[in-house]
Amino acid sequence: MRCAITGALSYTGRYLAARLLAKGHDVLNLSRRATPIALAPLSQRQADALAADRVALDFDDVDAMARALEGCDVVYCSHWVRFVAGDGDPHAAAAAANGRLFEAAKRAGVAKVVLMSHTRTSTSSPFPYIAGKAKAEDLLREADLNYAIARPCGIFGDTPEESILMNNAAWVLRHVPVFLVAGDGDHVFQPVHVRDAAALLEALGDPATTGEERDACGPDAPTSLELFGALRDAVGGPGLVVPARGLLSTRAITALTRPIDWYTGDTLLDADDLDLLASGLTRADDPGDPAIAARRSLLAWIADRGPDLGRRYVSSVARYYR
Ligand SMILES: NC(=O)c1ccc[n+]([C@@H]2O[C@H](COP(=O)([O-])OP(=O)(O)OC[C@H]3O[C@@H](n4cnc5c(N)ncnc54)[C@H](OP(=O)(O)O)[C@@H]3O)[C@@H](O)[C@H]2O)c1
Repeated sequence: MRCAITGALSYTGRYLAARLLAKGHDVLNLSRRATPIALAPLSQRQADALAADRVALDFDDVDAMARALEGCDVVYCSHWVRFVAGDGDPHAAAAAANGRLFEAAKRAGVAKVVLMSHTRTSTSSPFPYIAGKAKAEDLLREADLNYAIARPCGIFGDTPEESILMNNAAWVLRHVPVFLVAGDGDHVFQPVHVRDAAALLEALGDPATTGEERDACGPDAPTSLELFGALRDAVGGPGLVVPARGLLSTRAITALTRPIDWYTGDTLLDADDLDLLASGLTRADDPGDPAIAARRSLLAWIADRGPDLGRRYVSSVARYYR
């Protein structure tokens, strides 16, 4: 098959591309990037092939996107832009861009589109990220295409550098005497290992089936107190992990991280991100899905990777917005 992947040299896309290429499929890389954010798990030969077979999409030009997708059997869509300069809702814009890509896929005669969304989406959600993903899902369901949807809430990977959220939380935990978690610290977070996410995406790309909607979650669902306590223990951090309870709002906690942003040039924590983490929406809709239990354990990964996590700060702004 010929498979198109948005971001085949980015995070999840690299792992999916490596699987598909190893099985003899062609992969069209829909990306700004000609070099991967990190080489592994790709071989140099695979990375070179993805650099050569590449189109940087103009999401405003449906005709050009349709031409680029001619001959593709499956399109994997992970395209999302979380921050933009100026006014406007970047999530609504990303959903609309996804919708134009689905239209192009339809025109090109693509057999199936697989969307990476988010857990527990709803168009009426107060969280712009969740509402935006719900809108993208609706556009895909209405596109008259074979489709599937995978829903992660967080992704951890082979290396600290690609697991930005975990790595940077570990970096903070290595340095601060007190690490505040929002609310009572009892909100559950159920991320997936990137290799398990890629395996799910590959399976969902089967053009013979349609309408699959699956959580892309792992077996561990720690509360934020348990999660950041485990991270602190794994890195040997000096501090306490304490719930802010009613004393500090998520906006106030976010404001406390601003000096870190001035130091790193990054945005460690967006208030919307923290609200989302404390929302109860970062867990599987269907915890009984048997695939979840078979995936890699977050807590085992944290214990194993502790010595490496948070040694170096990783800037998501530098990786995705320059
Ligand atoms: N990572 C998580 O923890 C997580 C959690 C929940 C949901 N998700 C969703 O899962 C999908 C895959 O996540 P991921 O972390 O593997 O994706 P990623 O590496 O951030 O990249 C996904 C795609 O979005 C594009 N993109 C990202 N930032 C961009 C920017 N500033 N301007 C233009 N394009 C940009 C990338 O383009 P380039 O290839 O050109 O860089 C790539 O095609 C995304 O849709 C994400 O919303 C991820």
